Amino acid sequence: MANKTILKWAGSKVGIMEQLRPHLPKTKRLVEPFAGSCAVMMNTDYEQYLIADVNQDLINLYLIAQSLPLDFIANAEYYFQTFNQKHSYYNIRDKFNTTKKYMTPQGVAVNFLYLNRHCYNGLCRYSEKTGFNVPFGNYKNPYFPKKEIISFANKAQESEIICLEWQDTLSLVDFGDGVYCDPPYKGDGFTRYHAAGFSDADQEALAVALKDINDSQGNPVTVSNSLAAKELYLDLGFTVHEIEAPRKIAANGSRKSATEIIAVLAGVK
Ligand SMILES: C[S@@+](CC[C@H](N)C(=O)[O-])C[C@H]1O[C@@H](n2cnc3c(N)ncnc32)[C@H](O)[C@@H]1O
Repeated sequence: MANKTILKWAGSKVGIMEQLRPHLPKTKRLVEPFAGSCAVMMNTDYEQYLIADVNQDLINLYLIAQSLPLDFIANAEYYFQTFNQKHSYYNIRDKFNTTKKYMTPQGVAVNFLYLNRHCYNGLCRYSEKTGFNVPFGNYKNPYFPKKEIISFANKAQESEIICLEWQDTLSLVDFGDGVYCDPPYKGDGFTRYHAAGFSDADQEALAVALKDINDSQGNPVTVSNSLAAKELYLDLGFTVHEIEAPRKIAANGSRKSATEIIAVLAGVK
């Protein structure tokens, strides 16, 4: 059984860890520029991690969880016990969108965790005008991930956690690091994680940058993506494996499995 994560997250790798693990770099430190729910960190045993993502709310939550203030758990648990009604959800969502800049980092983390576990399917979607805009999920009894927060805090003691665009994270990759990239999938119009989106040009720029880092520094690189990205990675000389992945969140509501790729460049010692 894979370890669960604090957040529900579109594209979480919890369900495919057994297939992914053999293809991950065998290094002391793993760099993850698209960390999302941190499913990979929570299910691997690197000595160190560099955890990064462009989503500020996500990284803020991890920084709070890393230092594990007990009042954070107590406040978040209070929200879960008290506010599982539709009107409370929309009040909290409005407050989050309009007054976030006046909240403490811990307050933002409590609100974000609450929204993630009470919104529809754990989606994380923002509109440029109104901010976080996922509707109420209407779940009977949303799970409070206390156990997962504590496990994260333990694991994250040897981690650097940082809010960055992927290009800036790659600039922090040292000789000897392994890199695992799990960007928004090519051709996946539905799963939008932050306002700017991730275009085909971004997909190409990422693949080329990973090839460059492997050529220039010898870092082993592993990438997850949709089947639509297979040619892109094959053309750059990656070894591409196909796997069947359960799909929990799809545009048409389908929950069938889908073929995905794991593209690999071996490291040079
Ligand atoms: C497929 S998800 C990663 C899922 C993760 N591996 C997991 O198991 O939960 C893609 C992630 O990329 C992040 N992201 C999107 N655009 C980005 C960018 N330009 N730079 C860095 N991260 C980005 C999103 O916030 C999202 O968390």
